[in-house]
Amino acid sequence: MSTTTDLTLADLDLFAGGAPWGVFDELRATPGLHYSTEEAPNSGFWSATRYHDIVRILRDTETFTSTKFTNLEEVDPAMQDQRRSLLETDGLRHRALRRMLQGEFTPQAVAKYETFLRGITAKTLDAALAKKEFDFVEEVSADFPIRVLARLLGVPDSDTGQLIEWGNRMVGNTDPEHADVLIGSADSDEYKHVPFRSPAAIEVYEYGKHLAAERRGKGGTDLITLLADGVPSDGQPLSEHEFNTNFLLLVVAGNETTRHTITHSMKNLLDNPSQLEILRNDPSLIPWAVEEFLRYASPVYHFRRTATKDVEFSDTQISEGEKVVVWFASGNRDSAIFDDPYRFDVTRNPNEHMSFGRGGPHMCLGNALARIELRIMFEDLLTRDVTLERAGDLDYLRSNFVHGIKRMPVRVA
Ligand code: HEM
Repeated sequence: MSTTTDLTLADLDLFAGGAPWGVFDELRATPGLHYSTEEAPNSGFWSATRYHDIVRILRDTETFTSTKFTNLEEVDPAMQDQRRSLLETDGLRHRALRRMLQGEFTPQAVAKYETFLRGITAKTLDAALAKKEFDFVEEVSADFPIRVLARLLGVPDSDTGQLIEWGNRMVGNTDPEHADVLIGSADSDEYKHVPFRSPAAIEVYEYGKHLAAERRGKGGTDLITLLADGVPSDGQPLSEHEFNTNFLLLVVAGNETTRHTITHSMKNLLDNPSQLEILRNDPSLIPWAVEEFLRYASPVYHFRRTATKDVEFSDTQISEGEKVVVWFASGNRDSAIFDDPYRFDVTRNPNEHMSFGRGGPHMCLGNALARIELRIMFEDLLTRDVTLERAGDLDYLRSNFVHGIKRMPVRVA
């Protein structure tokens, strides 16, 4: 059975205080997909909130394509090619591009950064803890993931501050604090061809172009050289648009997501002292705990697909061209899969969460990198002789795309 619901997940106010878990629970309780009608033309969408429905949609790219874009925004068809990255490409080209990049992101490939990661983790934590009372986001989570990406991309350390600012302005741009151009407002045509409709995206393109010009033909081993000089297995080098959009994707995809997972994980450990104790007593459990950190945080709320034909799916009649949104966060709380899903359990096993997607061709390319970052951060933090406690209210990002925490005051107890 499908329903039209008043609980519109496009309402950003619903997300202003964190995830609307109660709404997800209510939607999951009724089988089928649920339609949200929106006022703006072409903005209504189906929501898949059950784990099994989400997995089926992610795997069936013939029926549910990513090529019509993967967020709720309606992208002008004339602008789609300019804005298309790996995420919005399906089929052979997607496979060829992904194959070209994936060697850099396997567990074995990212393991070679272990010493580097331990070094910046220790430095970050030394500096933060010396302050005794600090904002965990600003001092610990915010800079760490982008410094790692900068290393992979081969971006100079001195430019990472600028990358952080661009990332905030793009991904968080539904939050008034970060907004350059609010989606849905009367923004200028100039920005309609760039992701997030954000002027910051244009600045990132310019910056990428400058780095590519520097690296092209020099035989470097960084990701920028790979994007600039690499030839995917279909024999077609990246077009200028593909270079721009994929450079930008690599800058943003692993930045906010990892940042917010680190913050949520700390918050969840502080809120659940018995779970913190388990890991303090046996840090060898941390690699498994990371899976629960990811499930419980659900840092990416959703992605969108578009139906390529009229289809009956899970008792719901979906028409060609309609948007279908998969709510990973809801799937991660589905009691059909997770025993007592609201229990934060660092020993949960099995834990087949969908924070990186689940099983489809777009499954997060950077998942091994994110996992090693989280493991090393908490292996260091939880084996120090120091106890943190919360020192003020949390501030959530106003976004239905990223489940983000903007501020989390803490102090050394
Ligand atoms: C795709 C989540 C970290 C790069 C995705 C998807 C999700 C996701 C949900 C889409 C999956 C799908 O549609 O099936 C996360 C989370 C992260 C994280 C929660 C951190 C906790 C990273 C990192 C990188 C990265 C560190 C490294 C650059 C990518 C790329 C894609 C992607 C390139 C597109 C893959 C494709 O379309 O084939 N990620 N991600 N992500 N992620 Fe991540």
